[in-house]
Amino acid sequence: MKINSVGLLVLFALILGNSGAVFAAERKTPNAPEEFLKMTNPVALTPEALQEATASYKDKCIKCHGTNGNGKGSATKGMDVKPRDYTDKSVMEKIPDGQLFWIILYGSDPDTTEMEGYKKKYTEEQVWKLVHFIRSFAP
Ligand code: HEC
Repeated sequence: MKINSVGLLVLFALILGNSGAVFAAERKTPNAPEEFLKMTNPVALTPEALQEATASYKDKCIKCHGTNGNGKGSATKGMDVKPRDYTDKSVMEKIPDGQLFWIILYGSDPDTTEMEGYKKKYTEEQVWKLVHFIRSFAP
């Protein structure tokens, strides 16, 4: 078989494209247990609650989740699985409060993401305030 240089380029591009697909990690966010998915935020949405959560967010979350929650924080460069865009209402509508709460407490898939659990750092009340704050990116 005769292959010309265009053919070779196409072949090369195909090989490159395929290996990319093999190595790029897929998002494998685990689902919270049923009892969490049923939960609604028990903490009142007040300016004080949001203010407290803003401070926690700036301290621990902003480097990945970004200033406005778009998931493009400075620490995400080179990450295979990046945080989702919390400014996108169509994304946030599909994620229940209890799922957000559970992931903040226990973390996401440790093999594919760098989202750790914050159960040791924050009380449940503080985590619910963070859930309010995250929702405020896509009002
Ligand atoms: C080192 C980077 C990093 C830090 C720091 C970090 N996150 Fe994440 N977070 C991620 C990534 C990446 C994901 C996506 C995980 C997935 O989709 O499975 C994620 C997912 C989440 C989710 C799950 C919602 C979803 O997208 O399905 C919530 C809620 C969340 N993070 C909140 C926080 C909060 C609150 C903090 C700070 C207390 C924080 N994160 C700190 C990287 C980070």
